[in-house]
Amino acid sequence: MEQINDGYIEVDGSLKFCDRSGQIIREELPPQSKNQGWIHQAQLRPEERIYGLGERASSLNLRAAKDEQQQSKIYRIWNYDAAGMYPPGSDPMYLCIPVYLGLHSVGSYLIFYENSFDANFTFAETATADFTGGSLRYYFTSGSPRQLLERYTELTGRAPLPPRWALGYHQSKWGYRTESAVREEARAFQHQKLPLSAIHLDIDCQVGYRAFTIDPERFPKLASFTQELAVLGVQFIAILNPGIKYSRHSNLFLEGQILDGFCKLPNGKLVVAPVWPGWCVFPDFTNPKVRSWWSRQYAYLLDVGVAGFWHDMNEPAAFITSGDRSLPKVTQHFMEGRGGDHREAHNIYGLLQAEAGYESLRQYRPEKRPFIVSRAGWAGLQRYAWTWTGDIESSWSALRQTISTIVGLGLSGIPYSGPDIGGFQGNPSAELYLRWFQMASFFTFYRTHSSNNVEHRTPWTYGEPYLSIIRSFMELRYRLLPYFYTLSWEAAQKGYPPVRPLFWAGSDDTTLWDVEDAFLLGDALLVCPIVEEGGKSRQVILPPGRWYSFWDDTVFEGGQQVSLSAPLESIPVLVKAGSILPMEENKQLTLHLYPPTQGKSFTQLYSDAGDGYGASRLDKFHLLRLANGLEFTWEEQGDYPFPYTSVQIHLHGLKLQQAWVDDAEVTCQGQQLKCDRFLKIRLQAE
Ligand code: GLC
Repeated sequence: MEQINDGYIEVDGSLKFCDRSGQIIREELPPQSKNQGWIHQAQLRPEERIYGLGERASSLNLRAAKDEQQQSKIYRIWNYDAAGMYPPGSDPMYLCIPVYLGLHSVGSYLIFYENSFDANFTFAETATADFTGGSLRYYFTSGSPRQLLERYTELTGRAPLPPRWALGYHQSKWGYRTESAVREEARAFQHQKLPLSAIHLDIDCQVGYRAFTIDPERFPKLASFTQELAVLGVQFIAILNPGIKYSRHSNLFLEGQILDGFCKLPNGKLVVAPVWPGWCVFPDFTNPKVRSWWSRQYAYLLDVGVAGFWHDMNEPAAFITSGDRSLPKVTQHFMEGRGGDHREAHNIYGLLQAEAGYESLRQYRPEKRPFIVSRAGWAGLQRYAWTWTGDIESSWSALRQTISTIVGLGLSGIPYSGPDIGGFQGNPSAELYLRWFQMASFFTFYRTHSSNNVEHRTPWTYGEPYLSIIRSFMELRYRLLPYFYTLSWEAAQKGYPPVRPLFWAGSDDTTLWDVEDAFLLGDALLVCPIVEEGGKSRQVILPPGRWYSFWDDTVFEGGQQVSLSAPLESIPVLVKAGSILPMEENKQLTLHLYPPTQGKSFTQLYSDAGDGYGASRLDKFHLLRLANGLEFTWEEQGDYPFPYTSVQIHLHGLKLQQAWVDDAEVTCQGQQLKCDRFLKIRLQAE
């Protein structure tokens, strides 16, 4: 046995990883080779929980799920098109990543296998990674969940700041065919007094479903149309699938052929498979020349004002009735010059397409930040794109499933994701759509989308009282944008996902390890969606500390299970004591103070122009609990001018009696006070 840094290695190749105090965090068995691949196993502790593996329609703790024979569920790492509809439990999914986080009584760790081959993972008495090829190369790190994400994203990259509008609401529908239909939709949002940041155009806007086309007959003046939408504050997002129509009448096909850029079989013939445009060929994104050719294609859509792109079908998906519904495994790939086949290239196909797209947007529109949403991906996708959870069925169990899927993606390094609100396939009841909407108001990617064979779905589809309630949640979302945007900045700096599991707030509290029907948004908010039909209240186990109801300031002590009411108008949202929640309305910034039970708390607010790469600023707030109130200080940093016209302080949880702004007494209006910029505020409150 030989001691290495923080661990021991045995002669047979087994490994023990220890924490600083010498306690064992993970015990690995000797690796075994198997056919062209290998198996790697580690002992799991009885209480150990496992999270991650990218996008999963499973329990949050992956170890808890069983298959039909009550055996531990097998999770496959093989990006897969769930084709039209998937129910909870479906596996594999579109975006698989061989990374997982283990949590047990001694600590937590993360392991990432840098290998893109097809693999199966199971978590029973041991964690087993069974890879079909490639080398056994992995990264291990231990520490708190926060540290794990920081280190994992140090390795695989962090999500750059998105344009601020992307954090607003997006409307989508498989079925917008014409300019006038899109115009009507955007105007209807105005008419209904609903905010809207982007409209997504699905394949119906294209010519024969072909990549990089938008039908000039149905969108005759695209440049002025995107401009017209931009005036309404609405960005135009165009869909893009990787399959290229296999036809001599397709320019893209001819160009790609000149480059010798399409995937081929070992006999040199093109791989041809059916997707939306009919028979298609597939760019080999593992070839840098192909990526740069692909990158050039975005340019003219960018020139006419298309703001972002939606990469679909990039597992890559093919309409084959059985099996992998993708390219044959023998498909040859360039693999950056060293050569390889689809067994290795499959899982990184969507990632490399996203890289090409991102580089294109950086190059051809350097003054703006790229916005790409990609269905498939692999480790590192966060550097280039957001994702959504694909064609989920429209059901209550799917709504509930979405929480684990999104939290799991976040723990796998992907901070930006969201579901098709209401589910992709099927017609949700008014209540289901509303509850889904309320929940999604606290996810990063906030979009309604639905299939072409379901009823047209918008926030007003179900009439009152649903419309008014949805409107109030959309308004809340926009008021919370300073908070969301600061979380984005934090994700860019540290890799922390904005949407987090409850155990993020205290990973040694075992009661939080399995909570999969609630989530944290940043450190301040705890969101408890209603996941059952007719639900008007629910229970939740609170992380340690004091929590306030966002709606009425009711106080709940953490570390226990509480029951919260949830009339149709709202879902329970709690705010952690010590938080300063920044909210905006009409350019006024309101700082909601939730006093710490004792001592100090610290919050930062990030601002910049909302797009581009110019100046930024950080406003740093300290809140100190005093015997008879609070002291609140403000420190400004950075060159970007303060973007709000006025500031208001709103105190929660204590009765505000008197206030001094920079030592001058000011009048309070109930729990609020208006002020300009200040260095120090003293609040007398009980
Ligand atoms: C896929 C996508 C879906 C899209 C449809 C048509 O099923 O997942 O979002 O609407 O293709 O493009």
